[in-house]
Amino acid sequence: MKPFVDDFGPFHDKTWINASSIGAMPRVALKAAEEAIKLNLQPYRLSEAVFVESPKQLKTALGKLIGAPEEEIILGNSATYGIHLWANGIPLRKGDEVLLVKGDFPASILSWLYLRKRGIIVREIEPEGHALDVTDVIKAITPATKILNATWVDSFTGYQFDAKAIGKSCHEHDLLFLLNVTQGLGGQPFNVSKHPVDAITCTGYKWLCGPYGTGFAWMKRDLIDKLDYNQTYWLAMQGDREMDKMREYQILSNIGAPQYDVFGTANFFNFLPWTESIKYLHEQGLDQINNHNAKLVDQFLTGLDSSKYTIHSPQAKEDRTAIILISHREPERNKTIFKHLQEENIFIAFREGLLRFSPHLYNTTKDIERALEILNKI
Ligand SMILES: Cc1ncc(COP(=O)(O)O)c(C=O)c1O
Repeated sequence: MKPFVDDFGPFHDKTWINASSIGAMPRVALKAAEEAIKLNLQPYRLSEAVFVESPKQLKTALGKLIGAPEEEIILGNSATYGIHLWANGIPLRKGDEVLLVKGDFPASILSWLYLRKRGIIVREIEPEGHALDVTDVIKAITPATKILNATWVDSFTGYQFDAKAIGKSCHEHDLLFLLNVTQGLGGQPFNVSKHPVDAITCTGYKWLCGPYGTGFAWMKRDLIDKLDYNQTYWLAMQGDREMDKMREYQILSNIGAPQYDVFGTANFFNFLPWTESIKYLHEQGLDQINNHNAKLVDQFLTGLDSSKYTIHSPQAKEDRTAIILISHREPERNKTIFKHLQEENIFIAFREGLLRFSPHLYNTTKDIERALEILNKI
């Protein structure tokens, strides 16, 4: 099998180990982006079929990736889009409670805080260990709790929780389990039919190698039908009607996911290339990608000079993800090291004072060697 990297770049002499921030698109996406631009250069090519087909094809590709019917995929422009839909659309009454996780990514916290104005209790669970576990959840549940909203892989720590166990526990207590899979899906598989989850949300531009301004949510059909949210995008309300009939002003209900797709749903500049990225990832196999990334993480952790650095992300093989956080033993030097790596054409992220490395399928053992060489020399 040819290496994944052959389908990416060229990166020239630059090394991008930063999928947690932005994932590189495969070259097949470039071709699709060029096609999309041509549609607007010559608008006579922009048929009504493009408007219908481009979101549909993306939904089919995403559905295959996560093991869901395409009718349950909601197209967004971010991971935040899905969370906002849940926070504003899932019916909750005064006194109901939503559980969040302390220290979670801002999108998973801020989107819910507004509900406090409506008398809904929004409370943060503080996990006892590095990641949320079933005991933390059970201890936090009260008779008023209706929802747990959490993030599977933590972008600040690289820890991941057991979504199956936590989902099971939520369902045993009649809670909806809403999961942000942004930092996991794409680097590893996540199949909704194998997890007790009610909804997931995911950004497109990180591990799913899409353009910025993409994302999707999946929700169980019965949950979609329960949403109570004023989203009546005129094109979605058009339904199957021809475009020569637009002034019937009907609100279609029970059309499922399409009712909640982001406005401008046929966003072909973004969605055509992203569809190719998703198909590409699916063809390569998320298990294979996960194995590839795990090998690079292992190479990094094994090769890092432990007399100089401490590792903040999980070290035990069974706990690791593709997100590594380290600190120099003199943490005040981290920012300078980050800049030094950049000068050496190695691009990573600097988060909460730590150095974050997140290798993805287009990275190679050479990339890791280069990074280690520079780090260990410091
Ligand atoms: C866990 C998590 N959720 C959401 C986001 C933001 O995604 P978006 O900008 O698509 O809402 C990030 C970005 O780093 C993230 O790490």
